[in-house]
Amino acid sequence: MNGHDRTALITGASRGLGLALARGLAQRGWRLIIDARAPGALESARAELAQRTRVIAIAGDIADMAHRGALAAAARELGGIDAIVNNASILGPSPQPALLDYPLDVLEQVYRTNVIAPLALIQATRSALLPGARIVNITSDAGVEAYPGWGGYGSSKAALEQLSAILAAEVDQLRVYWVDPGDMRTQMHQEAFPGEDISDLPLPEASVPGLLELLEGVHPSGRYKAREIKIESAA
Ligand SMILES: NC(=O)c1ccc[n+]([C@@H]2O[C@H](COP(=O)([O-])OP(=O)(O)OC[C@H]3O[C@@H](n4cnc5c(N)ncnc54)[C@H](OP(=O)(O)O)[C@@H]3O)[C@@H](O)[C@H]2O)c1
Repeated sequence: MNGHDRTALITGASRGLGLALARGLAQRGWRLIIDARAPGALESARAELAQRTRVIAIAGDIADMAHRGALAAAARELGGIDAIVNNASILGPSPQPALLDYPLDVLEQVYRTNVIAPLALIQATRSALLPGARIVNITSDAGVEAYPGWGGYGSSKAALEQLSAILAAEVDQLRVYWVDPGDMRTQMHQEAFPGEDISDLPLPEASVPGLLELLEGVHPSGRYKAREIKIESAA
């Protein structure tokens, strides 16, 4: 089944994984609502994607309630949405400080963006979620492994994972997926490893087929690794 007449709201789709997924969905006929903070890069993405499908792009910070309200209004304008992909996320300081030195105001911002905002967006759009809608929350191996130096970002992803698992247990009508895309050659990864050569890492496109499979297939709610998902329905 392809995505004709389906609509996805993808946060953080001006570059990296979000843009790669938006391209994949646009190619399959999905309509898109996308955001990012920097308007210039978002407009470039919108203009490219609009050659294939209907796109509403709204610049703003996902941690901002008014911006989330604008995304929810767009979801209603398009007649409802079939998927929310909570992809936008921040690393925190680069290089990342150890927990004992972690500035708490920055930690609050990391949690607001990576944990509170995804739930708040689901709450804001709940009346626009169409039957069978999928929620995809993008997580990281740093949410389950105790890597020294990853305490801020990693603990935010751990919280996102547990939030996702409980949401899945609470709401039967939704399929909730929390998905580790694997290491990818993106701006965020470069920020995590400043000055290091990351040219050997896969591009985010390598994680897209698994996400398409979750969005178009009928997999049970749960934690998935994008590159290990068996492609059945989205081929
Ligand atoms: N890269 C990796 O190796 C890796 C590994 C595991 C998990 N992940 C996860 O994969 C997802 C995508 O990461 P990526 O590597 O593709 O990152 P990226 O290249 O830095 O892209 C992040 C995107 O999100 C947007 N964004 C960031 N903060 C935002 C905010 N507060 N509000 C709205 N948009 C925001 C960015 O645009 P603006 O900056 O203009 O807002 C950009 O479009 C994230 O959830 C990340 O945690 C990445």
